[in-house]
Amino acid sequence: MQNELYYGDNLDVLRRKIAAESVDLCYIDPPFNSKRNYFQIYNNQGSEDRAQAQAFVDTWNWGEEAIEGLEYILDIERLNPRAGDTRWTEQTVELIRGLEKVLGRGSLLAYLVHMTLRIVEIHRVLKPTGSFYLHCDPTASHYLKLVCDAVFVGEGGDYLNEITWKRTTRLC
Ligand SMILES: C[S@@+](CC[C@H](N)C(=O)[O-])C[C@H]1O[C@@H](n2cnc3c(N)ncnc32)[C@H](O)[C@@H]1O
Repeated sequence: MQNELYYGDNLDVLRRKIAAESVDLCYIDPPFNSKRNYFQIYNNQGSEDRAQAQAFVDTWNWGEEAIEGLEYILDIERLNPRAGDTRWTEQTVELIRGLEKVLGRGSLLAYLVHMTLRIVEIHRVLKPTGSFYLHCDPTASHYLKLVCDAVFVGEGGDYLNEITWKRTTRLC
């Protein structure tokens, strides 16, 4: 598949449209849990637009989506081959179970559940030789590192490096 552009919720697109082990490189610039709302450039017309409109609001609450996501992750059946190509490592499930105990059911856990569901699918679609770049800020970077380590643990984690923005003052 070449030059395809999908519009909508990326979890849905990943699950329905992207084959396992078909991607060389995945870069994501997701919400950071910044608790800010971003400029919305689309009108609400269809269901895909609704997903986008919600996505611009980078404020996370413990609600229906988070509850469903947590139940999905903690459902140990997902570790069973019946879950198809998606590989849920025991470490991912146990990490989220532990984070629920440590963080409680609130904004940060809601964000991490949202991200974990997607990072697991990214792991599925990446080729064994593929690379994954995740752009984030310190609000949740340390938790996201744990999620990535848990998801990619089958490959020994294979965390390579961190690239940090260096902010400078422009000299005119
Ligand atoms: C930090 S912004 C990145 C913006 C983009 N990289 C740029 O430079 O303009 C996060 C983006 O992720 C999108 N997003 C968040 N959740 C999404 C989801 N579930 N499915 C698809 N897009 C999503 C938002 O709409 C937003 O555009």
